[in-house]
Order: sequence, then structure tokens, then C-alpha cells
Amino acid sequence: MDIKQLIAKMTLEEKAGLCSGSDFWHTKAVERLGIPQVMVSDGPHGLRKQDLEGDHLGINDSIKAVCFPTACATAASFDTDMIREMGEAIGDSCQHEKLAVVLGPAVNIKRSPLCGRNFEYYSEDPYLAGRMATAMIQGVQSRNAGTSIKHFAANSQEHRRMSSSSNADERTLREIYFPAFEMAVKEAQPWTVMCSYNKINGVYASEDPWLLTEVLRNEWGFKGLVVSDWGAVSDRAAGVAAGLDLEMPSSDGVNDRKIVQAVREGKLDEKAVDLACERILTMVYRYLEHAKPETPWDKEAQHAQAAAIAAECMVLLKNNDGMLPLNKEDEIAFIGEFAVKPRIQGGGSSHINCFRTTGALEAAKGLKVTYAQGYSAAEDRATDEMIAEAAAAAKAAKAAVVFAGLPDSYESEGYDRTHMRLPDCQNRLIEAVAEANPNTAVVLHNGSPVEMPWIGKVKAVLEAYLGGQAVGEAEVKVLFGDANPCGHLAETFPLKLEDNPSYLFYLGEGNVTEYREGVFVGYRYYDKKKMDVLFPFGHGLSYTTFEYSGLELSRESMKDTDTLQAAVTVKNTGSRSGKTAVQLYTGAAAADPIRPVRELKGFAKVELAPGESKKVTFTLDKRSFAYWNSQIHDWYVPSGTYIIEAGDSSRHLPLRAEVQLTSTTELPRTYTLDSIYMDLLADPKAAPIVKEFLQRNSESKEERSETAQDAISDEMNLAMLNYMPLRAMFGLGGRPEAEQEVLEMLKRLNQ
Ligand code: BGC
Repeated sequence: MDIKQLIAKMTLEEKAGLCSGSDFWHTKAVERLGIPQVMVSDGPHGLRKQDLEGDHLGINDSIKAVCFPTACATAASFDTDMIREMGEAIGDSCQHEKLAVVLGPAVNIKRSPLCGRNFEYYSEDPYLAGRMATAMIQGVQSRNAGTSIKHFAANSQEHRRMSSSSNADERTLREIYFPAFEMAVKEAQPWTVMCSYNKINGVYASEDPWLLTEVLRNEWGFKGLVVSDWGAVSDRAAGVAAGLDLEMPSSDGVNDRKIVQAVREGKLDEKAVDLACERILTMVYRYLEHAKPETPWDKEAQHAQAAAIAAECMVLLKNNDGMLPLNKEDEIAFIGEFAVKPRIQGGGSSHINCFRTTGALEAAKGLKVTYAQGYSAAEDRATDEMIAEAAAAAKAAKAAVVFAGLPDSYESEGYDRTHMRLPDCQNRLIEAVAEANPNTAVVLHNGSPVEMPWIGKVKAVLEAYLGGQAVGEAEVKVLFGDANPCGHLAETFPLKLEDNPSYLFYLGEGNVTEYREGVFVGYRYYDKKKMDVLFPFGHGLSYTTFEYSGLELSRESMKDTDTLQAAVTVKNTGSRSGKTAVQLYTGAAAADPIRPVRELKGFAKVELAPGESKKVTFTLDKRSFAYWNSQIHDWYVPSGTYIIEAGDSSRHLPLRAEVQLTSTTELPRTYTLDSIYMDLLADPKAAPIVKEFLQRNSESKEERSETAQDAISDEMNLAMLNYMPLRAMFGLGGRPEAEQEVLEMLKRLNQ
């Protein structure tokens, strides 16, 4: 298909029309030229294909589909191979349903536990989010269906999501809010990128040329098309010029006419419209030319896959006295409505019409399990009778498992949570059950962290997140030991909401949200502040034990253009097979510039039989040590010592090694009369010039009077000099010629 030739035949009106949808889910056809339309559908963790009335809030019905675990859960798997396979399954379903693009993955950073959409997002860590998204995109696109990585960018709250401006400095955007998109674009080339609703530093993402063209295309090499989030367009012509190719959904021709008008008035270059059409048609024909609608969609097989994935995602947060796994011979009380009707997904555009859902009680058929409802999730209440009945059931059993979590109304697309608590009725229930039976475990269903006031009273906590339609099967497997839990937290659970770094500024003021915590998001903040947390990033227990040893580096020193291999050995020292997530973090030893203590730069999920050892090797490169330098607008690694740590959580890193890095980039320096001695003396080029000047101009200790020597030592003298600007030397020591000398020295320093 010669797309350029096709575009040459189109009228301006046809081209402008092609740049927006024909309805909620289809691109436009141009019948005169035989250009067909294609359909897209939400995602990200399954299909929300709407055959009839379309909407983007998950209100109207969609076809029966399979709900895989949501991103908050899948990120906890730390298993990119598994995510890729999940993507393949979703890609197959797209082919079967004749969908050109599935709208996901969603990679926005979990800045606050309150974001209503955290369940759809992967992590507080950009590297982990990027690796997960890359795997997902590769999986879907291996089936010749496209993806739409979203929401680009800095869309970390639902509050005022269509009008607020996320104001963050360049370094924060580059280090925290962009890398997941960057990695996915560079490594997986998603067919489409969805721009977000919000503004970034005052400019709508949908009309930001810096974001959509300079960074996304010119720097990262994105080749696909940019689609608006549904209704994100403000100024359509500005959007086309900025690089927003496709507007969704249809604007009923309103914005198409604005494109035509802008071209006619000479305000928009028609070439920009041609380019948008070229990208849209490339996507359309890319899908159509290899479409395989005969691909089967085996929903039962995908249900089983969803169960297997859910089991790999669950995080065993606490397990005192080895309470879990439970013994299948014992009588166990399942308590809480989520054992029957589990909360498996979040509300909004990702909401899937499951063809089947399995709760834990159903999955535990054949085991000695009793049940008490404990609370009503829909009514969000527990009567005294319900709690008493639950406590009695717990007392009568060997152990109790409370299935708790956030009811649907607590977290959803479109609004944020207002607190981090579980429903009060559920907290009361857990306390009562734990009181009735000390062998109490809690299974949590939530898309984002919750406070756990009862944590000291229960023996075990299993975080199931929003685990998809087969979550109950996975829960029973993990609880009774048929599966060994191996998830690790992709986010920190703070002790309380107020500990979160964004707490003071989260919702912003009016339409402005300042990202004032900067790069200190999640563990980057808690670690720097040495704060206690409820459960740290990366944490996850197992029914077996692992030993980490021998962090071996392939070299002791390197230039920032070199790569480094870091090998870690892990041994299963327990008595059953299991998996762990080996995590590798780097950090700079120097205090300047201000950086997090450690940042995740590598991870691997490793499966080991009892007694088995494996060596895992990570490759580290410049980006593994760099920070974004806003002076040169690029990644930069200051020369110095870097620390590499490895272990199985950000707070359990038994292995540590050091490497010396030498920068190959010289930062441009311009000195002025305001430059201070400390900075000049730290610059190997400037230091000799300055030292020579100082020698000529300062008295040696011997020259000073005894009283002066007593009052100020040479060290103190130097320490005070450190912060002195050059201009302070004018006329120093009663030498009028000093001013001229300073000015001459400045000239030499800047040569
Ligand atoms: C959401 C997107 C979604 C789109 C289409 C929007 O409200 O932000 O994530 O893909 O609707 O349903």
C-alpha cells in the first residue's frame, strides 16, 4: 500500500476528517478511496469491546471477555516473561475480535497511594513500570495487534484530571515520569501512544510540541501515532502541529473543520495534516494487512492463565510462625464477602465484563472450609450480628482467613481516594476475628496501599491486589500451599498516608498541582529520610528461604561509556521450590547532586528447587548511574564512587559492592564574579589558577599576628574562604590592584 500516494489523492476535508474517530471506537473510513476503518478497545488487562453504545467510563456494557489481573498486581510478579505471555493472549483476543489496538498498558507513576487509578498502573518506580510495559507491548504486538501506552504524561491523579497542570521540573519529569514511556518506546515501539488529559507545566499534553514531537519522536525515536485520551483535545489545530495525530472519540466534525480552517488561514501547515494521516493509515494497514480474525479465543484457557498469573502476583507480606500455608486437613473459617464475590478489578474504562469470576469459597470446594459473610461490601457496613457470627466461626475453626479490601466505590477512574484506610467495618471485623482466633490471616483486595491498624494482631497478610476474574482459585492455591507466593511489592506501603512524600501537595491548588517532592517518589523518599514503613518496595515473603551471595562485578572502575556486569548468586535454602525477585539497586556515594540513596536498575525472577543455586547477571550502563542534568539537558554521571546493592527488597540488600566511574562528558562552565572558591577549587582546570592567585594575595599563618592565629586556624580560614565569591577579593588586603587581577583571572578561568 503506497500510503503517501493515497494521501495525495485526498481532499483537505477528507484528510482533516481522518484525523479523528468516526464514533467512540472506530477510525474513519474514506469510501471514495476505499480506505477502511478499524476498531480500538480498552484494555489494559483484557478487552472492553463495546459493540453497541460506546462510552469511556465503563458505564455501558461490553462483550463477555477475560479479566486478567490488573497492573497493580502484575507488576508485583516482577516477571516480564509472564507479562509478555499475558500480552500474547490479549493480542490473540484482539485478532479474534477484529481489534486493531488495545488501549494499554498504563504506566503512570504512583505518586500517591490516593490516585483512584493506581490499580491500573504498575509502580512507583519508573524502571519497573518500563520493563513491565515493554514486555506487555511486545506480547500484544507479537500478534499483530497494536497497543497504546498511556497516559503520556505526568497523569498521576484523577482529581481535576482534564484541567489540572502537573507542574514538575525537567529533572523530575526525565527521571520519574518519563522513563517508563521512554523504555517502552525505544525497546518495543508501541503502535500508538495516548497523550494524557492534563497539562504539563501549563501546556495541555494534547498540544505540547516538546512532549509529542521533540521528546517522543526526535529524542526517543517513536514511529507510531499519537492518539488523544478520550476527550483530551483542547485546541485541535495546535494539536496537529504539536504531533497529536488522531483525536478520539469523534468530535462530530467540529474539530475537523477547525483543522481545515487553520490550514486555509495559513495557521497550520498542510504537511502536518498529511503526516498525521500517514501515521494513522500506517497503523490501519499494518493491522489489516496481517489481520487474522480466524484466531480462536479460548476463554477457558485464558481463565486458567489468569489464575496462574494471579498466583504469581500475590505478595505474602507477613507470615508469623509459618501460619501459611494452611493444612488441608484442618477446618478453616473463610470470613468476608470478598471470599464469595471478590473485588477483582477497578472501575472506569478498564472495567471488563467477565465471562466468569471465581471466588475463594467456590475454589475451596472439597476442603474443610466454613464461611461467614462478615460485612456487606456494597452497603459498606457490618452489623454487630455479622461480626459476632464471624468471630464465632473463627473460634470454631483451626484458623481464620479474612477476605478484606476496598469496595468498588473506594477507588476508580475519575476520582481519587480521600484516605488510605480500609472501611471501618472491615477493620473492626479483622480485630474481632483475630481476637477470637490467634491464627488469623488477612487476604487483601485493593488497588493501592491501605493502612493496617491491626497488623500486630494478625499472623499473616496476603496482598492479592485486584487479581482478575480467577483470583479465588489463585488465593486457595497460595493459602493451602499448592502455589508458593512469589510476588514482591511494586510500591511502598507507608505506615500512614501522611508519610507519603506528595502528601502536602497531592491535589494541588485549583488547577495547579506542584510536584514539589521532585524525584523523591516512593522508596526514593522513604529511604533518604530513613523512615519506617509498613512494607518496603520490593518486599515479598515465600514459603521457602533464599540466600544471596557473591556480588561480583566485572570491573572495579569504568568510564560512563562502558558497561558493567554484576552477578548475584541465589540459593534456595528451604525445603520447597520457590521463586524470588532478585533486585539490583545503584546509588552515588557523593552527596552532590542531591539524589536518592538507591534506585532500582535491574531485577530478575528466579525459580529454584530446594538446595538449588543460580547465578543471575545484570548489565549496567551509563543510564544505570546517571541523573538528568538540567544544565546540559542530558543524562550525566559525575565521576566518583557508586554503590551497587542486591537483595530481595529495597530494605533487605545483603550484598554491596563499589565501582569507580569516570565521566566522559565535561560540563560547560562559565565563571562569573559570583563564583565561589569552593567550586573553583573543585574544578581541576580552575584550581591551579585560583591557588596561584590566592598565594599571591593571602597572608601565610606565619605572617599573621599570634592573636589572629589563635582565633582562626588555616583550616577555618579555608572553610570560610570556600563560600566567598570572587568579587569579595576586590581590594582585599588593602591592594587596590586586586580588582584588576581578579578580572584577569576570571578571563583566564573562562578561556
Ligand atoms: C481513559 C483512557 C481510556 C479511554 C477510552 C479515558 O477516560 O482515561 O484510559 O483508554 O477513556 O475508554
